[in-house]
Amino acid sequence: RFAGVPQGPEDAILGVTVAFNADPNPNKINLGVGAYRDDVGLPFVLSPVREAERRIVHAQHHMEYLPVAGSRTFVDKAIRLAYGEHNHHVKTGQVASMQTLSGTGACRMAGVLIQRFLPALDDGPRDESPLVLLPNPSWANHAAIFRDSGCTVGQYKYYDPATKSLDFEGCVSSLEDAPDGSVVLLHACAHNPTGVDPTPEQWAKLSAVLKEKRHQPFFDMAYQGFTSGDMEVDAASVRRFVDDGHRIVLAQSFSKNFGLYGQRVGCLSVLTDSQEEALAVDSQLKIIARPMYSNPPIAGVRIVEEVLSDPELERQWRMEMKGMAERIISMRTMLKGYLEELGSVQNWDHITNQNGMFCFSGISKEQVAKLRDEHSVYLTENGRISMAGVTSQNVGYLANAVHKVTM
Ligand code: LMR
Repeated sequence: RFAGVPQGPEDAILGVTVAFNADPNPNKINLGVGAYRDDVGLPFVLSPVREAERRIVHAQHHMEYLPVAGSRTFVDKAIRLAYGEHNHHVKTGQVASMQTLSGTGACRMAGVLIQRFLPALDDGPRDESPLVLLPNPSWANHAAIFRDSGCTVGQYKYYDPATKSLDFEGCVSSLEDAPDGSVVLLHACAHNPTGVDPTPEQWAKLSAVLKEKRHQPFFDMAYQGFTSGDMEVDAASVRRFVDDGHRIVLAQSFSKNFGLYGQRVGCLSVLTDSQEEALAVDSQLKIIARPMYSNPPIAGVRIVEEVLSDPELERQWRMEMKGMAERIISMRTMLKGYLEELGSVQNWDHITNQNGMFCFSGISKEQVAKLRDEHSVYLTENGRISMAGVTSQNVGYLANAVHKVTM
């Protein structure tokens, strides 16, 4: 019956790890997936996470089902991290929300909600396949998530390969030219894959443009903490839009800033006009989730709850989060320094100008293949380097390999 199923390609990001794992070279480096490594290249479990885990095991909790929308305690804490401690809309119950299977699950749930319910502007006919605009480029999975949710996927200008920075004018004009009422996906901070974020002034302008065009802002915040090292500073874009009166959709991931990758801990929230509206959106989110996965997993959220319920563990978490961001920044400086020392004639300023977990290196597809085949250095095909996989031990080898393929 399934003989006609065609072989599909490996995932653009996770497929890199598959290839890396099969490489016998002891010097191999995986800079594909955005997963933080410590300075000896090992997966890093934050100490407050370990402590929370210990306490949880000790408490001998039950393992019953969570409600369809997940843990209320966790969701409340997640929302506090994004909207801020004293947000008026949160207090008045205007935020619909649920625990999700990390950021991907949050985007997917929102995609289906948008496809089913996004109202037309001015009582026109509702679009069966609403337009979701992604920055060009965006995280490789975004297009598939919104397409599989039944939305139409478009792009707006974002990155300028010539300057290796934000094409702000292009960005604004493509958002102005888009059909009114489009959904616009924004990376709250630490843009994936480019490492290029708008400045606070540019965020203010984007907020005004989206307002003018009645676009629906959709924030994906998978890297809160990784731009500045500070959770509050990195939420500034989201908070500005909320303060400006936007009714945002927000996907949050705790994979990176808590290091809980495989635990699938995330949150979706939708800011509505009233508590009544929020309750209606909540009810529909549950109706979407129940036939998809029934209810979310319990282990990871218990860890986040434990950490964020204890001021001392929370303090440690914020400190170690900052340490991860700082280690990445120091690897940027080292990589650029080594390339210059090796006599590279290329301009590598963007390595230190870009921020977050990634460097959008400008390395071509052919050079990526050479790095893989001749040096066992693994990047995604678009030249994205996960700086989180660079360590003080492998940075020299990496710089040498990059120099060889780019000279
Ligand atoms: C990445 O971009 O590498 C991460 O978000 C991991 C993933 O799921 O793709």
